[in-house]
Amino acid sequence: MIATRVVSPDEVSTCRALASQLRASASRAVEAQGRFALALSGGHTPETLFRLLVREFRETIPWSHVEVYWADERAVPPTDPLSNYGLAERLLLAPLKIAPTRIHRIRGELAPPASAADAYDAELKRAPVDGAPREERGPLDLVLLGVGADGHTASVFPGSPAPPPGRWAVATPAAPQAPHVPRITLTLELLARTPEVAFLACGEEKRAILERLGRPEGSDLPAARVRAQRAVTWFLDAAASG
Ligand code: 6PG
Repeated sequence: MIATRVVSPDEVSTCRALASQLRASASRAVEAQGRFALALSGGHTPETLFRLLVREFRETIPWSHVEVYWADERAVPPTDPLSNYGLAERLLLAPLKIAPTRIHRIRGELAPPASAADAYDAELKRAPVDGAPREERGPLDLVLLGVGADGHTASVFPGSPAPPPGRWAVATPAAPQAPHVPRITLTLELLARTPEVAFLACGEEKRAILERLGRPEGSDLPAARVRAQRAVTWFLDAAASG
């Protein structure tokens, strides 16, 4: 597994570099297995990426064969402004007319959040796995991730307890980082069973955490502990990468 950084001048060119990688991975997966299982990140960073995918990659990514999942979700209804699904639905899924049968949202409205995590864990374990034995590979082909100022990614926060072995989705209590609501998140164990993970981090406000992640003392932060089967790629703009 290699971890590489792709640095582009600004946010749009960074998103374009990630989108090109996504197009290549999707085309390869659809060619090989007829499907591409993509997990979207939450927060604000993907907004520019979603708009670019609709504007420039509508025709060149095989969207009719893309299964959409999420890396994490806030424990809120899909109509809540905090919903990661809601953001993606508005900016990406609706404009691209992704079929509801291929949208696998985390049901953040279920209470308690642990029941939403159990449901998502079960859905992931029912999902088809291609190209490798089930005990080695999860159902996702590529997971998009962001990184928080404290080094969290998805909703794996520093100091959060290790999930039970074998779990692919878990609930976390109210996050120490805004929004301070309980979350449902993929586990690092599932990411490690995924061929590709792509981080997207743009802007001056990400520079400090990226520098910290690059130092030995940052190696135990969740974003530094992400592994993938083939590659972890950081797509950064110049402002973030310093
Ligand atoms: C979430 C995200 C979270 C996010 C980082 C970065 O649900 O909040 O999954 O992990 O990726 O906190 O957030 P921004 O993109 O808003 O900076």
